[in-house]
Amino acid sequence: MPTAVLQSVEAVRSDRRTLLLAAGTVMTAFAVGAAAQTAWVYGNQGGDVPVTDRILANLTAVAAMSVILAVTGVSLPQRGALTVVAGVLGAGVTASGVRFASQLLLDVYVDPPREVIVTELLSGATVAWFAATLGLVAMLAQRRLRAQVTAAAQDRLRIELALQALQHEEVRVRREVAEGLHGSMQQRLVLIVARLDGLLEGRGEAALAEPHRALLREVREEIETVREADVRATSRMLYPDQLEVGMVPAIRALLGRIPTAVNTRLGVTDDVRALDDPAASRLTRSERLLAVRVVEEAISNALRHGRAEVVDVRVSVVDDALELRVSDDGRGFGDDAGTPSGTARLADRLRLSGGDLRVSSVPGDGTQVVARLPVESLRVPAL
Ligand SMILES: Nc1ncnc2c1ncn2[C@@H]1O[C@H](COP(=O)(O)OP(=O)(O)OP(=O)(O)O)[C@@H](O)[C@H]1O
Ligand SMILES: [Mg+2]
Repeated sequence: MPTAVLQSVEAVRSDRRTLLLAAGTVMTAFAVGAAAQTAWVYGNQGGDVPVTDRILANLTAVAAMSVILAVTGVSLPQRGALTVVAGVLGAGVTASGVRFASQLLLDVYVDPPREVIVTELLSGATVAWFAATLGLVAMLAQRRLRAQVTAAAQDRLRIELALQALQHEEVRVRREVAEGLHGSMQQRLVLIVARLDGLLEGRGEAALAEPHRALLREVREEIETVREADVRATSRMLYPDQLEVGMVPAIRALLGRIPTAVNTRLGVTDDVRALDDPAASRLTRSERLLAVRVVEEAISNALRHGRAEVVDVRVSVVDDALELRVSDDGRGFGDDAGTPSGTARLADRLRLSGGDLRVSSVPGDGTQVVARLPVESLRVPAL
C-alpha cells in the first residue's frame, strides 16, 4: 500500500482511538464516582445500596456509548457536523437507555417511580453527551496538531527540493563553463600557439628578423602560461578533474598536483569506496563537488598559511554522512589568524546541507579540518 494511504489509515485509527479513549475514560470516571457517591449518601441514611450492580449498570452505558460512537463513525474526517451531532446525541440516548435497562435487570430499582426513571435517563444521557463531547474535543485537537506537523514536514520537503534543484543547477553551470574553458578556449589558444610556431619556423624569405622572433617567442610563452596555468586552473576550480569518475579519484587528482616536496597521504575506508563506486556512484555530483572543495580549501590553507610539509586526508562514513578530515603539520594558528573566508563559505554551504565544518589548530602544531557532509542516499527515509 502506498505510504500516503497507510498514513491516512493510521490517522483515522488514531483519531478513533483518541475519541473512544478520552470519552470512555471520562465516562468511566463518572460511572464509578457517581455509583460510589450514591452508595455513600444512601449508606449514611441507613439504606442498603448494591454498589457493584450500580457500577456494572453504569459500565454498560460506557460500552454502549463507545459502540455507538464507533459505529456511527463520528471520528472519520469526511463526516459533516450534522452527522457528528447526531452520532453524539445517539450515543448519549443509547447509553442512557442501556444503563437504565441494566439497572432494572440487576434489580438496582424494582418498579421505580416516574421521577426516578426521568432523572436516571436524563443524568445518564447528559454524562454520556458530556463525555462524548470531550472525546471529540481531544480528537480534534490531535487532528489539528497532526495537520500542523504535516504542513511543517511539507514545507521542509519543499525547501529541500528547492535547495537540491539549486545545487544541481550550480553543478550544471560549473560543468558547462569548465568544459567551455577547458575545451573551446584551450583549443583556440593551442591553435594560436601553432600559428605562432609556424611564423617562428619560417625560413628563407619568410624568416623573421631576430628581434621579432624573440618578441614572438615571449608572446608564445605567455600564451602557453595563460593556457596551462590560468585557463586550466580556472576550469579545475569550477569543476575538479575526475569528478565525473568519482570523489576519491578527484581528491587523488588534486593531491597529485601538489609539489612533491609536500608529503601527501590519502586514507579512504571501504564504505566510502563502495559509496563512490565509479560504476554506480551513490554520491550526487553536488555532494562530490562539495567534498572535493573542502579538501581543496584545507590543502590550500595548509600550504599557503601553514607552509605544511605533510598533509593527511581521511575520508570515512559516519552515520549518514561523509566525514572528511584534513590534517597538516604546518605552523597552525591562534588569535593572529586572518578572518575566516574560504572556510566560512564552505561551513555555510555545509550547514545548508545539514552538515558542518570545524577547524581546530594549535599554533606551531598543525591544523585539522573536520567536515561532515550528509549523504542523501544514506539517509533513512522518514516513515
Ligand atoms: N592550515 C592552516 N594553517 C595555518 N593557518 C591557517 C590554516 N587554515 C586557516 N588558517 C588561518 O585561518 C585564516 C582563515 O582561513 P580561511 O581559509 O577561512 O580564509 P583565507 O584562506 O585567509 O582566505 P580564502 O580562503 O578566501 O583564500 C587564514 O587567514 C589563516 O590565518
Ligand atoms: Mg582559505
